[in-house]
Amino acid sequence: MKSNLLWAVLGASSVLASVPISSVKRVTNLPTVPNKFIVEVDSLSNIPSKRSASPHEALYDSLRKRAVRFKVDKEFNSQGLFVGAALTLNTAQDVAQLKDTPGVKAIRPVRTFARPNPVKVQVVKDPKDPAVPPDSESTHILTGVDRLHAQGITGSGVTIGIIDTGIDYTHPSLGGAFGPGHKVIGGFDLVGDAYTGTNTPVPDPDPLDQCAGHGTHVAGIIGADPGNPFGISGVAYNASIAAYRVFGCNGFVTDDVIVDALLRGVADGVDILTMSLGGADGWTESSSSVVSSRIAATGKIVTIAAGNDGASGAWYTSSPGNGINAISVASLDNTNILLQNLTVQGVQHNPITYQSTFPFPVLQTLPLIAISKDPTVVDDACNPLPDDSPDLTGFVVLVRRGSCTFVQKLTNLEAKGGTIALIYDNGSGFSAIDVGQFTATLIQAQDGVDLANALAGGANITVTFPQTDASTNFPDPNGGLISSFTSYGPSNDFFFKPAVAAPGGNILSTLPVNLGVFGIESGTSMATPFVAGSAALILSVKGKTPAVGRSLRTLLETTAQSVPSTHTDGDPLQTLTQQGAGLINVFDAIHTTTIVSPAELVLNDTAHFKGTQQFTVRNSGRSAKTYKLTHVPAGTAVTVQPNGLASEGPVPLSTDFASVVLSSSSFTLRPGQTQTITARFTPPAKADATTFPVFSGFIQIASGSDVTHVSYVGLKGTLKDKQVVDTSDEFFGVATPAIIDAGGNIQEGAHNYSFLVQDFPTLIFRLAFGSPLVRADLVDQNITFVPTIQSRAINPLSPSFTFPHPNKGGTFSQVKIIGTLAELDFIPRNNEDPNDNGFYSVTVPPAFANGTAIANGLYRFLFRALKVTGNPTNEADYESWLSPIVGFNQPGK
Ligand SMILES: *[C@@H]1O[C@H](CO)[C@@H](O)[C@H](O)[C@H]1NC(C)=O
Ligand SMILES: *[C@@H]1O[C@H](CO)[C@@H](O)[C@H](O)[C@H]1NC(C)=O
Ligand SMILES: *[C@@H]1O[C@H](CO)[C@@H](O)[C@H](O)[C@H]1NC(C)=O
Ligand SMILES: *[C@@H]1O[C@H](CO)[C@@H](O)[C@H](O)[C@H]1NC(C)=O
Ligand SMILES: *[C@@H]1O[C@H](CO)[C@@H](O)[C@H](O)[C@H]1NC(C)=O
Ligand SMILES: *[C@@H]1O[C@H](CO)[C@@H](O)[C@H](O)[C@H]1NC(C)=O
Ligand SMILES: *[C@@H]1O[C@H](CO)[C@@H](O)[C@H](O)[C@H]1NC(C)=O
Ligand SMILES: *[C@@H]1O[C@H](CO)[C@@H](O)[C@H](O)[C@H]1NC(C)=O
Repeated sequence: MKSNLLWAVLGASSVLASVPISSVKRVTNLPTVPNKFIVEVDSLSNIPSKRSASPHEALYDSLRKRAVRFKVDKEFNSQGLFVGAALTLNTAQDVAQLKDTPGVKAIRPVRTFARPNPVKVQVVKDPKDPAVPPDSESTHILTGVDRLHAQGITGSGVTIGIIDTGIDYTHPSLGGAFGPGHKVIGGFDLVGDAYTGTNTPVPDPDPLDQCAGHGTHVAGIIGADPGNPFGISGVAYNASIAAYRVFGCNGFVTDDVIVDALLRGVADGVDILTMSLGGADGWTESSSSVVSSRIAATGKIVTIAAGNDGASGAWYTSSPGNGINAISVASLDNTNILLQNLTVQGVQHNPITYQSTFPFPVLQTLPLIAISKDPTVVDDACNPLPDDSPDLTGFVVLVRRGSCTFVQKLTNLEAKGGTIALIYDNGSGFSAIDVGQFTATLIQAQDGVDLANALAGGANITVTFPQTDASTNFPDPNGGLISSFTSYGPSNDFFFKPAVAAPGGNILSTLPVNLGVFGIESGTSMATPFVAGSAALILSVKGKTPAVGRSLRTLLETTAQSVPSTHTDGDPLQTLTQQGAGLINVFDAIHTTTIVSPAELVLNDTAHFKGTQQFTVRNSGRSAKTYKLTHVPAGTAVTVQPNGLASEGPVPLSTDFASVVLSSSSFTLRPGQTQTITARFTPPAKADATTFPVFSGFIQIASGSDVTHVSYVGLKGTLKDKQVVDTSDEFFGVATPAIIDAGGNIQEGAHNYSFLVQDFPTLIFRLAFGSPLVRADLVDQNITFVPTIQSRAINPLSPSFTFPHPNKGGTFSQVKIIGTLAELDFIPRNNEDPNDNGFYSVTVPPAFANGTAIANGLYRFLFRALKVTGNPTNEADYESWLSPIVGFNQPGK
């Protein structure tokens, strides 16, 4: 997962300068591991030659018969969930053979997932440490967990499998030891310390984590024992934990390892599996998504992070969290931020709160000086200070925000010896700022104006940064709102992602003993175990039956609390594409006597509009209840900009709401009685379909203080109309798709490649939207094909073993191709970040995707991307681009 910033860092530009295309590495950069596939096979009975002892042996026999050279990385044998193997193949010909092997049901590439980077980490040293939130249990109060603990509901008898970096079970709050009878009852290390995601895992039975820490933080959110010096406790501190370690000390993890961990957890009999990991995807099809979903369908609980890619806009939730039956979890910011106070002397003034979790390491009391004592100067310290300015050494310098970057101002101060600065806001802003390596911070405007005026009046002011007892519980202006880093859904196939939200911003929990014992982190990684622990509380009360398991997501969603988009009155609720069904309330989920189902009404896009929906309301209480139903719309997410690219986060919201007609809006139910409601939705009248507005909201079902809801989400617009290929020049400064040569130049006319050293063509493209199918084919130079897009004017020697499907048929296959260079299924769109999924590149060797050499000659590349919900056999459902002439000119061939 990409780690996005928790609080907007002012001064950091959000508009990225275009990336020079010549800087692009001439390599294939797809998010999959070359040469590796996860193969799913039929159970033995369906395989033609069943002399073999197992479906695996049958597969291997059959591959050997075809002279396919392969290495088995992992075998999966979980009947009813997943039977198959992760294989590494030697050559592209072997890949082509694999797909024709009897018994092979599905072949999926092996995706890579980055380490789950927390958005923010702080080690806290002791309870007196100023960084400890004074109210460390605010997350439990927000979600009703405190009231369940008070009732003695703490998750006893439930086992939670944590798939992460392992756990430091030597931690005194996590049981202190490993094995039966302890809190961490079991688990497995599937990879070993040295695993990076690219080398061979070295498994061992001990999932101890003393080098990464992420899994230990996750474990504390679920299971930290009360009675620790920090006064925190896990959501389900009497539950048992099994630790499945899938990350080494550094690096990433691949799908095959995650699938292995999931199936191992199931085999060990855990009740809940939780994964605070993933990568931006938008589709529901990766191996770990599919297996997670199948496990959830059996009645086990699978909670998975929605992702930290909120800055990249809608249609961008992570896998495996996109797994259809999994519970994908959004993050809510905790209600308080911990900040520091400074004190001033020489003038009467209250302590001044400054933006820092820890006190500035400034031990002396220092005099204050202002560059300008006039608090209306707009460009204070934006220019180099004049020669006659005083030496600023030993002063705290007061500067007003505005006109240039903070670092610019601070650099000018530094030139005169100023190393410590207070920057006062020029409006009503107050958040963390980017000051590089300087000791500088933001204070609020009024405090700065007061100080400047006092200095102007001739006061001699000194400033002290107390090192203890100065932490202050500043109300987080975003507290109680969805963390801006939470990824937005829905999935490209319109599944309701994320499902629910839980506290994940600014969370105090356990760290490995050698890495600090306790610390604060933020991310959907922290929200996810909160939901896993909450599920344990529910199972411990309602029982661990598959029926309870299968209905648990519905229970959490229908009893969740809706979350506003801002704290400003009159602003709409946050779009359900970021909050899901809202903030969970575990007390209500357990104690509600109104059972509503289903929880999600998916209306889909205009072409597949399911505007008529039904749900049922059952009174499971002991007395009759009169219900009143109301439509509570949320902000409509304007997901696409006029240029066809996704709106970056925070996704703009409009108040063009859908309307709904209910078959009944008030009724009374006797105990045990059920009422079915029909809801007829009309998409928002004024919303502009070309901006792909996703409308969403709730039908609230209230009987006195007993309030539940169903959630709906729909699109005004047709996904098949959504442009998938970014043809603009916004990212690179030049339009793509394009082919670049060895020198990084865009190929404008015909160009020959020798395929020696670095002389390969590299196809560069960007997707403005996810595509179910992207193909690059080699075609005749004289092809008469008219593309939809008009041309503007790893060891590259081994082919990228993508997996070309057999002919799709229809008009698609009427386009005459010579052979396929690459095919990618269900790939995510790109974002605007050059270091993380900004573009795709495919370096083409002198060979087709199946490994067969390409003869010297003059050709073109035909690039095609299928639109969402498009028919793969219909050429008109693709966007296409035809390259200039590409000459294959290998010497001696
Ligand atoms: C739950 O945990 C507490 C403290 O760790 C312990 O005292 C108590 O006996 C446990 N309760 C159950 C029901 O296991
Ligand atoms: C910090 O400063 C604010 C504003 O003056 C004040 O309200 C608060 O009580 C102070 N807190 C501490 C711990 O000094
Ligand atoms: C404050 O300064 C920033 C940065 O120069 C500027 O964008 C903003 O408009 C200013 N705000 C006010 C209220 O002047
Ligand atoms: C401030 O300090 C200067 C030099 O130390 C002194 O001359 C001046 O009188 C002081 N002003 C006030 C208001 O105390
Ligand atoms: C939405 O419609 C498309 C096209 O029919 C379909 O493939 C997809 O599964 C639907 N999504 C849901 C969640 O039903
Ligand atoms: C490419 O090579 C062919 C021979 O294979 C030659 O006819 C042609 O002129 C060359 N084109 C360029 C642009 O160098
Ligand atoms: C194909 O196009 C090339 C120029 O791009 C031309 O020289 C050649 O004659 C054409 N071949 C056919 C069969 O049309
Ligand atoms: C590979 O693809 C090319 C082009 O479609 C085809 O001519 C060749 O026969 C294929 N090779 C194998 C081993 O299937």
